Parts: sequence; structure tokens; C-alpha cells
Amino acid sequence: MKLFIDTANIEEIKDVERWGVLSGVTTNPSLIAKEKDVVFEEVIREITSIVDGAISAEVTGETAEEMIAEGRALHSIHENVVIKVPMTKEGLIAIRELEGEGIATNCTLIFSVNQAILAIQSGASYVSPFIGRLDDIGSDGIELVRELASIIEHYGYDTKIIAASIRHPLHVQQAALAGAHIATVPYKVFQQMLAHPLTDRGIEQFNKDFEGTKRING
Ligand code: E4P
Repeated sequence: MKLFIDTANIEEIKDVERWGVLSGVTTNPSLIAKEKDVVFEEVIREITSIVDGAISAEVTGETAEEMIAEGRALHSIHENVVIKVPMTKEGLIAIRELEGEGIATNCTLIFSVNQAILAIQSGASYVSPFIGRLDDIGSDGIELVRELASIIEHYGYDTKIIAASIRHPLHVQQAALAGAHIATVPYKVFQQMLAHPLTDRGIEQFNKDFEGTKRING
């Protein structure tokens, strides 16, 4: 399973990029709005200069025509820009058109198997089931990922699952076990994934035991 970061914050992206584990970035209008005084297209351009991978930028138009025009403009920023399109009837029309033009799309706000089946049939390169938001309403977000993975595997579809709306490290490991191709992970969760008290204690003990050991260069 590959890892994307779910943020529009440049410092967070730069930090995790240095870890060497990032394959892409997802943004959404709320994440962009959290970054004060920025211009949407400039943020996306900057992200493409930091991460060499799929960078999802979301359209906000409501009609297919608006989404297609926005999608073309966003994709013109860089070939790695993937157009995030909401799961609506107009969104499906836009996905079909954009994919036909060679522009990759990520169908977002997926909450059911049937929505994903429609997105796959429209030609979406990615589908984004929102795990955390499903859990919030008492549904099982991970189960949706498992069902989608099994359908995609069974029929040999090319569409990739991006496990989205990840809230904690357990979601990441569950998404991997459920067969997600990608998990898009918030910065805080990346940091939580690193940490284990036994690792900290182990390092402390190794360093203590090693004190006073002779080295070639002093
Ligand atoms: C997906 O690409 C979205 O940006 C994101 O994962 C939404 O998650 P949220 O439920 O934490 O807002």
C-alpha cells in the first residue's frame, strides 16, 4: 500500500517528503482554506515541485461543464495533478470526459459500494472511500474498503482505492489489510505511525550501554 499525505500545508508536505515514504498528496477545499492567504493554484503548483507523484486538486463547480473546465485548468498546472471530482451525477459526466482527455481523476466522497461501482464505470483512476466519516455515523469504513478491494480484484479493474478520512494509525494498518492501494494520511497520523515507547526506550538503553566504548575517530 502506498502512502499519500492528506494536507495542503507546505511545511508538512516538505517534512514527510524528506522521510522518503511519500507517493502523492491529496487536498480538498477545506484543507486549502485552512492555509491562510494562499492562492489555490499556487499551492498546487508548489506541491508539484515538492512531491513527484499524484497530487489531487478538487473542483468546486456543480455542473459537469464547470468541473471539466476547472479540471482542465488545474491539470494544466502540472501533468501530475489529478482532478478530484465529487460523487454526483455531474461528477460522473466530468470524470468520463476528463479521463477521455487523458486527465486522471479521483472520485471523492465515496460512502457506498454502489457509488464506487459507478465511479469505476465512469473511468475514474482513483476512488476515495471516506473511512473516518463512515465510522462517525456508526458504519464500518474499513469494511467498505475491503468490499471495494475485492470487487476491483475480482473484475481486474484498473481503478485504485485511496483510503481517505483516516483519523488514527489503526485506520492505516486496517486499510492495508483490507486491500487499499493507497492510504492518504494526515500529518499528525504520520507522526503517530512513527512512535513506539519501546523504540524510544531501546534507543535510550543502547546509547547508555555504548557510552565509553572506544571509536576509531575518538
Ligand atoms: C480525501 O482525500 C479527503 O481529503 C480527506 O481524507 C477527508 O477527510 P476528513 O474526513 O478528515 O475531512
